[in-house]
Amino acid sequence: MDLFDKCYSFTRVEEVKSIGLYPYYHPITETEGPVVYMNNQKMIMVGSNNYLGLTHDPRVKQAAIDAINKYGTGCSGSRLINGSLDIHFKLEEALAEFVGKEAACIFSTGYQTNQGALVPLIKKGDYIISDAENHASIIQGTLIAKSLCGDSILVKYKHNDMKDLEDKMSTLPLDAGKLIVVDGVFSMNGHIAQLPQIVAMARKYNARIMVDDAHALGVIGTGGRGTASHFNCTNQTDIIMGTFSKSLASSGGFLAASERVINYIKHHAPAIIFNASMPASNAAAALKALEIIQKEPERIEKLHYNAQQLRQGLTQLGFTVLPGETPIIPVLIGDDLKTFALWKKLFDLGVYTNPIIFPATPQGQQLIRLSVMATHTDEHINYVINAFEKAGVELNLLHTAV
Ligand SMILES: Cc1ncc(COP(=O)(O)O)c(C=O)c1O
Repeated sequence: MDLFDKCYSFTRVEEVKSIGLYPYYHPITETEGPVVYMNNQKMIMVGSNNYLGLTHDPRVKQAAIDAINKYGTGCSGSRLINGSLDIHFKLEEALAEFVGKEAACIFSTGYQTNQGALVPLIKKGDYIISDAENHASIIQGTLIAKSLCGDSILVKYKHNDMKDLEDKMSTLPLDAGKLIVVDGVFSMNGHIAQLPQIVAMARKYNARIMVDDAHALGVIGTGGRGTASHFNCTNQTDIIMGTFSKSLASSGGFLAASERVINYIKHHAPAIIFNASMPASNAAAALKALEIIQKEPERIEKLHYNAQQLRQGLTQLGFTVLPGETPIIPVLIGDDLKTFALWKKLFDLGVYTNPIIFPATPQGQQLIRLSVMATHTDEHINYVINAFEKAGVELNLLHTAV
């Protein structure tokens, strides 16, 4: 058997392309944020995590350009040795202060950031207690920890099910090290973690808590400070993780925690030690975006207003919109082909959405995931609603007559 046999026999892409429904890897040739161009066609982008629309803010762009002029385009080394710039430290201080922790450390991607916490913190005899719908980067970090410490370190609980969490926690040795890790806002369905109950459980069963706030920063909590702030339990949340690829208009990620924990991670995480540090332009863009978020809280209000308008419009049309309080708007379809067919109709009508199928969402929960930006106008939102109406009627997906 040749190693590449699996590649040659993988023909699903060609099959889906041949019926015109392949939804992935479509190149954007130009973008203004809420509006992008694909195939010379203008599209309203409602499939991006650019929640506050800051990737195209002239101040953010200028900060990145200035940083390139000052520091060059890359760091050519890891943070530990030659790759630490003063702007990395400035960004770490600003992030720690923003989320209300003593210290922070940054990583080159959000994806790596989760590994960056899990791999050095979890040792033989410790446990990772993980929500079943946590992000793939938490799962990958957990797989590395499992390969180092054994399969028994992972304890998975049913998504957002506090009874199941307690059932599982109560079977673990009280004196063992335990980390409950959870998405603050779940990326596919927009659910918010039940952090107050998790905090209570962590106290009762002697566990630490890590919250992945990729989709919560700049979105929920006081001034966009995330899930712990939303529930007023920042002090009881041990580690806050975030990415720069969503509200922070850049690329990279961070962990914020006590000074001792961050110091330990900075000296033990392979994801920092063996990885070239983040380019200055990324750090400068995130730092400027963070400054703007704090100065212009009205952006977060506009984001929620837009989300509310879109949710309401689609619900009134007769789509099954999963309830929620975040700018992630899941439109439940429940079948792969119908999901792709709706995605394609919307694409042809000039609306870019994300089709979500298994394993990103459980079987039967296939959906079209929409996410709004603060920089969408009323006209953009109405355009999207009208396109959904046309597509929904043509595909017979609406519950009620429109
Ligand atoms: C919940 C969550 N955590 C982590 C990540 C990884 O972040 P990044 O894409 O910035 O590397 C993502 C990205 O989609 C995410 O949704």
